[in-house]
Amino acid sequence: MKILSSLNTFKLSILGLILLFSNLVDAQHPTEQWRPKVHFSPQKNWTNDPNGMIYFKGYYHLFFQHNPKGNEWGNMSWGHARSKDLLHWEELPVAIPNGKEYIFSGCVVWDKYHASGLGNPQKDLLIAIYTADYPYTREEQHLAFSNDDGLTWTKYEGNPVLNINYKDFRDPNIFWHEESKQFIMAVAKPFEYKISFYGSKNLIKWELLSEFGKQGDVGMIWECPSLQYLPIEGSTQKKWVLFVSSQGPYKDYVGMQYFIGDFDGKKFTNENDEDTKLYVDFGKDFYAAVPFSNAPKNQNVWLGWMLSWKYAKEQPTFPWKGQMSLARKLSLVESNQGLRLQQKFVPDFDRMAPSFEASNFVVKDSKFKQISGMKFLKDKTYAVDVKISGSKSHFSGLLIKGKANEQEWIKIGFDEKTMKWKIDRSHSGKIISDFFDGLQVAPAVDGMPKNFKVVIDRSTVELLAQNGTVAISALRFPLDIEENVYLISEGGNTQIQQIKIWELK
Ligand code: FRU
Repeated sequence: MKILSSLNTFKLSILGLILLFSNLVDAQHPTEQWRPKVHFSPQKNWTNDPNGMIYFKGYYHLFFQHNPKGNEWGNMSWGHARSKDLLHWEELPVAIPNGKEYIFSGCVVWDKYHASGLGNPQKDLLIAIYTADYPYTREEQHLAFSNDDGLTWTKYEGNPVLNINYKDFRDPNIFWHEESKQFIMAVAKPFEYKISFYGSKNLIKWELLSEFGKQGDVGMIWECPSLQYLPIEGSTQKKWVLFVSSQGPYKDYVGMQYFIGDFDGKKFTNENDEDTKLYVDFGKDFYAAVPFSNAPKNQNVWLGWMLSWKYAKEQPTFPWKGQMSLARKLSLVESNQGLRLQQKFVPDFDRMAPSFEASNFVVKDSKFKQISGMKFLKDKTYAVDVKISGSKSHFSGLLIKGKANEQEWIKIGFDEKTMKWKIDRSHSGKIISDFFDGLQVAPAVDGMPKNFKVVIDRSTVELLAQNGTVAISALRFPLDIEENVYLISEGGNTQIQQIKIWELK
């Protein structure tokens, strides 16, 4: 009897454990263990693209594609959050709700001299221009304005400000072009793989200037363009770069590409071959990034949506779905292969005191080295910076392993034999879809040092390697509660010049 009842208690506790475990991964129960701490995600419900990003009076404003009513795409409106440091975000009420029209992606600019004549002339004026999507019918560009620094918005009575009677015509991004003294809008014709440029003096009347397209990667539709004037590292020169969300480096997966060239106030010209394909990020979870307008010191800072349309529905989080990447500062750098995009995390971790630091040591072949001083990490929000001084290994980098389940791991590092950077998430916890592939690979950029920075924030993993000329952004959904960071070397030794870790509180 006694044996039977303890057997039953045992069974019950196993059942309890199973229930607890399935609750943990059930999409209808809160999954706070996967909510990034220093990346923006809405308190509840769906988000995709970042929108209307502007720095204004001490705040970085992030509007975002949002379904205020559910944890899936729909009722598209602009949600709103702001931050002083791009790490801590404060969510505000929905900024632009949908009506008959869905409020699709777009931008916000400061109408400094009240060129539009809208609103109260005594107060600062912000102008949002976004796509009004009438499902399956038409996409037009609409305007809304704000006289209270972006908190509340009035839809302009004279909308649309731009309509060419197209079903797909979207995602306007605008900047002030000093030389031609006008605002320039880049806007996508997705199915023609074209970006149209329009000019305006007052943000209301727009005139077609030129079109660019059908170059680079045309494997999938084009969306969310931005034209930016980027500084070239180590010189006083700048170049125009056109960014487009499209197919990325993986067939049938969305991603982002860029074209480097010139812009004369009317027309963008690609200085590379039409077939040159330059990708922003070699991970599967970085899309729709656009810059902050009016950013401090005229810098080019952006962030992207950290998820993929390929499996967005399957993201197993509740009560929110979708999150943004960390903010990154953009520039160009001369490599042995020509000019390349460089992305650096904002904030600058190097200015913060690390929780752990070690230099000049060797990680032996097929061994992994626990980074001494590193305890098991419960919170899983940290940044790691590694400088490799020499390697003969086909994998030099980090192995991040669960505590209770050592079979749960993610690998991040460099393959000296094939000259490729890799993130392997094939054993990283919950595999959410057949398309949530394990290995993500980026070719090394010739002439750049073998250093890398990784920011792990619970479910987000962002790698910026070789001074930020290589990026891989990937999600993961770990099941283990604690994990630890090891250095590994496979198929040869690796010399480490320095490693630093920052635990982000
Ligand atoms: C890109 C996108 C945009 C559109 C928005 C709709 O992810 O498809 O082209 O404006 O999302 O939510």
